[in-house]
Amino acid sequence: MFKSIVSRLTAWYSATLLAVVVVVAGSLYFSLTKILDAEGNAFLRDRIEAVTFILNGADQPLQRLRRRVESEWPVRLHDRTYIKVVDADGTVLASSPQIPPEVESGVLSKVVARNERLAQSSGTRFELTGGRSYLAMVKNVETANKAIRRVTVYAALDLSAENDILARYRMSFFVILGVSLLVVVVFGHRFASLSFVPVRELIDATNKITGTTIKEKVETENLPQELVPLATTINHMAGRLGDSLERLSRFSSDIAHELRTPINNVRGEVEVALLVERGAEEYREVLSSVLEEFTRISAMIDSMLFLARTESPVANMRREKFNLAAEVSNILDYYGASAAEEGISITADLHPSVELVGEKTLFQRAVTNVVSNAINYTKRGGAIKVSTRTEETAVVLSVEDNGAGIPKSDIPNIFDRFYRGDASRSATKLGGFGLGLTIVKSVMGLYNGEVAIESQEGRGTKVSLKFPL
Ligand SMILES: Nc1ncnc2c1ncn2[C@@H]1O[C@H](COP(=O)(O)OP(=O)(O)OP(=O)(O)O)[C@@H](O)[C@H]1O
Ligand SMILES: [Mg+2]
Repeated sequence: MFKSIVSRLTAWYSATLLAVVVVVAGSLYFSLTKILDAEGNAFLRDRIEAVTFILNGADQPLQRLRRRVESEWPVRLHDRTYIKVVDADGTVLASSPQIPPEVESGVLSKVVARNERLAQSSGTRFELTGGRSYLAMVKNVETANKAIRRVTVYAALDLSAENDILARYRMSFFVILGVSLLVVVVFGHRFASLSFVPVRELIDATNKITGTTIKEKVETENLPQELVPLATTINHMAGRLGDSLERLSRFSSDIAHELRTPINNVRGEVEVALLVERGAEEYREVLSSVLEEFTRISAMIDSMLFLARTESPVANMRREKFNLAAEVSNILDYYGASAAEEGISITADLHPSVELVGEKTLFQRAVTNVVSNAINYTKRGGAIKVSTRTEETAVVLSVEDNGAGIPKSDIPNIFDRFYRGDASRSATKLGGFGLGLTIVKSVMGLYNGEVAIESQEGRGTKVSLKFPL
C-alpha cells in the first residue's frame, strides 16, 4: 500500500494531524484539569474561611454556623459541598445534612487520618469505588471565641460536575479527532492525487515520443517546478537519442550511396563484357578491373567495421605499452617507398623514449591514415615532416606536409564520415572514401586524446595528435 506516494502522503498528513491534535488537545485538557482543580480548592478554602469568620463573630456564633451549614448552604443550587465542624473533644458542632455514608467514611474520616496535610492549602483527592470523586480539606481553626476555642473544619467537594466537564471534553476530542482524520484522509488523498496529474500528463507526453517525433520537446512551461528538471532531462535524453537516430539513418543512406557507384560500375562493366563473345585477354581485363573495385569496396567495409567497433558506446581498448617512435618509424618505413616513388620526401624527428599505453593497432591505424593523407594530398617534390613534442602531461605527434592544403570551408567537415574535399574527389590517383579522419578521431577518442588540424590552402597541412601520458 505504501508503495504509492499518494498513500504515503496521506499517511503523513494524517500522522501529522494526529500528533498536532493530540498535543494541542492534551495540553488544553491538562490546563483544564489544573483550572478545575484550582477552582475546587479555592471553593473549599472559601467555605472554611466563611466558617472561621462566623466562629470568630461575637453574636451567637454556633447558632449562626449551624444555620448556615445545615440549612442555608445546602439549599443553594448546585452546592455540592459537605461541611463538618468538630470541637477539640470530638463533638460535632455543625454538619451538612445527609452526608452520604461513603463520604463520611471514605473521605471525611480519611482526610483526618492524613492530618499531615493539614498545613497544606490544597485539598486531597479521593476516588471512591462507585466512580465518584471528591476533593477534601481539613483545617484546625483557633477562634477568638473563648467558649469554642479550637475546632477542626472538614470540607469535601463532590467533583462529579468537574468530571462531567472533563468527560465531555474527552468525548468531543475523540469526535473531532475522528472527523478531522476522516477529512484529512479523504481530502489529503484527493489533493495528493490531484498533484500527480501533471506527472501523469508528463508520462503521457513521454509515451507519445516515437522515432519520428523525438525532436518534439515535452512541454515544460505549465509543469510544476519540481517536474521541470525531469521534463528537461527527458528532453535532453530524447535530443541525444534523436541525434543518434539521425546519425544512424544518415549513416545507412551514406553507405548505400557510397556502395552504389562502385557496384554499378562493376555491374555495367560485366554487362558490357557479356554482350558479345570476347577473347580471354578482354575477360582478364574486365576481371582485374572488377577485382580492383571490389578491393576498394572491401577496404571501405573494413573501415566501416573498424569504425563500428571504435565508435560503439561500449568500445574499450586493450591496454598495452608500446614505444611511440618505434611504431611511427615502422609506418614511415612502410610508406617510404611509395612516397619516394611519388617524389615526396619524409623526415622524422621523434622523441625516442616516449611510451604510450593503449591498443597498438588502433594507434597504427590512426597514424597510417594521417600519413597516407599527407602523401596523397601532396604533389611531386613535396616534403613531409613527422615530429613529436612532449608536454607536461601529453605527447603531440605532428604530421606536416606542404601539399594542397584544405579550404577553410572544408575544415569543419573533414572529420565527418564519407566527407571528401572537392580537390581530392577530382584527383584521379586517390580512391579514398572519406573515412580516414573519422577513424583518426574515433581512435583519439578511445585514447582520451585530441586531434587538431591547421591548414592553409595551397601551402600545406599540419595534423597534430595529442596523446595524454
Ligand atoms: N594532409 C591533407 N592535405 C590536404 N587535404 C587533406 C589532408 N588530409 C585530409 N584532407 C582532406 O580531408 C578529406 C577527408 O580526409 P579523410 O582522410 O577523412 O578521407 P580521404 O582521405 O578522402 O579518404 P580515406 O582516408 O577514407 O581513404 C580529404 O578528402 C581531403 O580533402
Ligand atoms: Mg585519408
